[in-house]
Amino acid sequence: MTRLDLRADAAPAPAFVSAAARFGVIEKPDLAYTPAIARETAHLYEKVKDFIPAIEWAAYAPYVHAINRLKKERNAVILAHNYQTPDIFHCVADIVGDSLQLARDATKVDAEIIVQCGVHFMAETSKLLNPEKTVLIPDAKAGCSLSESITGADVRLLKERYPGVPVVTYVNTSADVKAETDICCTSSNVLAVVESLESDTVLCIPDEYLAMNVARQTNKKILTWKGHCEVHERFTAAELLAYKEANPGIEIIGHPECHPDVIAVCDFAGSTSGMINYVKDKRPQKVLLVTECSMASNIQAEVEGVDFVKPCNLCPHMKRITLPKILDSLLNMTEEVLVDPAIAGRARLAVERMVNLKQ
Ligand code: 13P
Ligand code: SF4
Repeated sequence: MTRLDLRADAAPAPAFVSAAARFGVIEKPDLAYTPAIARETAHLYEKVKDFIPAIEWAAYAPYVHAINRLKKERNAVILAHNYQTPDIFHCVADIVGDSLQLARDATKVDAEIIVQCGVHFMAETSKLLNPEKTVLIPDAKAGCSLSESITGADVRLLKERYPGVPVVTYVNTSADVKAETDICCTSSNVLAVVESLESDTVLCIPDEYLAMNVARQTNKKILTWKGHCEVHERFTAAELLAYKEANPGIEIIGHPECHPDVIAVCDFAGSTSGMINYVKDKRPQKVLLVTECSMASNIQAEVEGVDFVKPCNLCPHMKRITLPKILDSLLNMTEEVLVDPAIAGRARLAVERMVNLKQ
């Protein structure tokens, strides 16, 4: 009997070649603070001088200088979320924004390499939208409590339990979860996404508070999941009322990942960029941003005459990204973000439906 080996006819799987092997590794430059580096970075220090003491700039400037030089050499672009620290946000980022803006802008990037300064799901979203580009994250452990609250298997169970109910998934999830999803959303478009669906009932996962907040603005029945943002769930309405009492006239603006009781005492709620635009447009005399701590510093550097009251809740995942790690990432071409081809197509579709939604 002749045995046919069908595997011999199949195209062999392409061998994996790491980004380091494709692009080569560059030796670490000398990171001395020289008069030339002081001169060339002086305009950038101007933007962050209220947050970084002059004496400390000597430690930051060589990294800022080396990263900006390497970006050009590597044909790389840095995408940074609004929660990145001011040194990253103002001194090395090319594109900054909220999750939706970063996802949209990721589709317009010309550079060969994207360095994502944010958390892992953001880098994965950039990779989904740019399968042919190399996407790097300076620390692959930069996770997110919302993303970790749910798996693709959980969504499959939900779909069995609620057959026919469309699934709207917050972009703060893994590609595995997105692959089980009809359409993604972010905090800035969740209402529009929910309203765009014909069904009277919608599964809006995994952020319970985002879902509760959107449920107050729509007639549709919203089903959800018990995921929470570990940063925003710490804020309480009582704490904000105490700030109001101590600061007459203060405007309080919050992120919809906060509990609805917290949002109820806010003067405005919106995505991180929605909050930034509110401060830039309205110029309140005194403001409190109910969100991650670095964002207030990032806007403070851009608006004059606004007094920021700052309760400081940090996102430990966002804070894993630092200048030394960004430099290492560009030198060593690490950590490369890859998405399993078995799920990438379906996950991409869910993100693209969101990006292409007319608003
Ligand atoms: P934005 O989409 O509003 O930037 O929110 C992302 C996030 O992780 C907030 O915690
Ligand atoms: Fe995730 Fe919350 Fe951090 Fe945003 S702030 S990345 S939702 S843990």
